[in-house]
Amino acid sequence: MKPSSLPHAVGLTALGTYVPSKVVTNHDLAKIVDTNDEWVVSRTGIKERRISEDNEFVSTLAFRAVDNLVQKYGSAVLEGVDLVIVATNTPDALFPSTAALVQSHFGLKAGAFDLLAACPGWIYALSAAHAYVKSGVCKKVLTIGSEVLSKVVDWTDRTTCVLFGDGACAAIVEEVPDGYGFKSFVLGSDGLGGKHLYMKCVAPSLPDGTMIQDKLYMNGREVFKFAVRIMESATIQALEKADMKLEDIALFIPHQANYRIIDAARAYLKLPLEKVMSNVERYGNTSTASIGIAMQEALDTNRIKDGDDLLLVTFGAGLTWASGVVRWYHKSF
Ligand code: ACO
Repeated sequence: MKPSSLPHAVGLTALGTYVPSKVVTNHDLAKIVDTNDEWVVSRTGIKERRISEDNEFVSTLAFRAVDNLVQKYGSAVLEGVDLVIVATNTPDALFPSTAALVQSHFGLKAGAFDLLAACPGWIYALSAAHAYVKSGVCKKVLTIGSEVLSKVVDWTDRTTCVLFGDGACAAIVEEVPDGYGFKSFVLGSDGLGGKHLYMKCVAPSLPDGTMIQDKLYMNGREVFKFAVRIMESATIQALEKADMKLEDIALFIPHQANYRIIDAARAYLKLPLEKVMSNVERYGNTSTASIGIAMQEALDTNRIKDGDDLLLVTFGAGLTWASGVVRWYHKSF
């Protein structure tokens, strides 16, 4: 593509989501591990989460999120999609990629790959999609965050099983009118912190000698300290890169891991409550899907208007983090 015909602005134009219908409350969890509603609510803000059925996997949730996109915007929303990126930590299989399963399920003429960056995966996918479209390699990218962490948590470990829920989001990234779209991205990682949050795949240990157990392991206190620090600094960096101030942001949409983490970041940044989106109370931490699910709720409740600047910020295993500013564009398909 000639440089003169490359898109000036690239952004999100459509969003869909899906959460399983099964609701599991803290009271339900108190029947299987030694916990209680008061502890979970006071430490995390989570009251309930959605849990996939035995026959629902990451591909199932991804298909449903794309179905939701089509229901809302019509089938034209998928026309011309030439790349599918699925961010997930719990794929059906290492290969084929879940993205390839999505491509064939919807009959798309598109390339496909999965992306693994823990909870920040979907923001990494948005940044990759932005780069593909901006450079002219692709025109329209379907990005998905889909997660069934309930299938890999240790249901006997009360310190982790209360935190997570299942869900998916799907969004289109393409050219948008000048002035709209992504204004900045910040991507970061610190592999020295890998030992604080991990899940087994092939190797028996990490390079630092940490033996990897079969189920998801997390050192909650270490992740908490890291999360609060990084949410603040990644927010400031995303604003600096976009040449914007916090006051310019209409809505702050952080990773929905724990309300205490969100509120600590809000307090450090001195953000008013009404500028912070949170629905962790009803979904728990849905990892790669969490920001998309929160954004969807903000759209449904008219907290996002055309032209609003949104700040997205997230953290997770790796340790990794990502943030970005996007100006919302309401497109009619
Ligand atoms: N119910 C009751 N008691 C519990 C529970 C529970 N579900 N879980 C832990 N406890 C107990 C502990 O055993 C401990 O008891 P002790 O003092 O007798 O040893 C006590 O409660 C306090 O435990 P802490 O770990 O100090 O509790 P804390 O206030 O740190 O909260 C939490 C724990 C909620 C996990 C917090 O550390 C946290 O949110 N960390 C960040 C987690 C996170 O956001 N992870 C994101 C992962 S993203 C990704 O990529 C997968």
